[in-house]
Amino acid sequence: MPSLKVHHIGYLVKKMDAAINAFQNLGYKTAQDTIYDDIRKVSICFLQKDGYLIELVSPVAKDSVVSGLMKKYKNCPYHICYETEHFEQDYMTLVSDGFTAIDTLTPAPALQNREVVFLMSPFLGMIELIK
Ligand code: NI
Repeated sequence: MPSLKVHHIGYLVKKMDAAINAFQNLGYKTAQDTIYDDIRKVSICFLQKDGYLIELVSPVAKDSVVSGLMKKYKNCPYHICYETEHFEQDYMTLVSDGFTAIDTLTPAPALQNREVVFLMSPFLGMIELIK
C-alpha cells in the first residue's frame, strides 16, 4: 500500500474572489495569497479551516487545464492531493493499482515549485501526487 498523506483538497471555482469571500464567510482563512500558475493557466488560492487545507483553482484562460472540468462540474471539489516520502515507489504502486498518469511531473508555482503529477482512477477520479 502506498504511504500517502493528504496534503489538500482541490476545489474548482468559477469566480476566485467571490469564492474566497464565500469560504471566508464559512470561517476559512487564507493560507496563501492567490497566485497565477502560468503553466496551467489557473489562479490558485489556499484556504484553511479545522486543519483542512483547501486549494481553490479557477481558470484564467479558455484553454486552462480545468476549463473542460469547469464546463462539466461548475463549483466543486475535484481532486485530493497526497504527499509521500517514497514518490517513485508509491507512483509505481498506484500505476499497478490501475491509476493512469494524465500529465508528467511539472513544477507547481503554488506549492513552492514542488513537482506534482495528476493521476486518474476509473473508480475514484483524479488524485494529485507531490514529489
Ligand atoms: Ni491540488
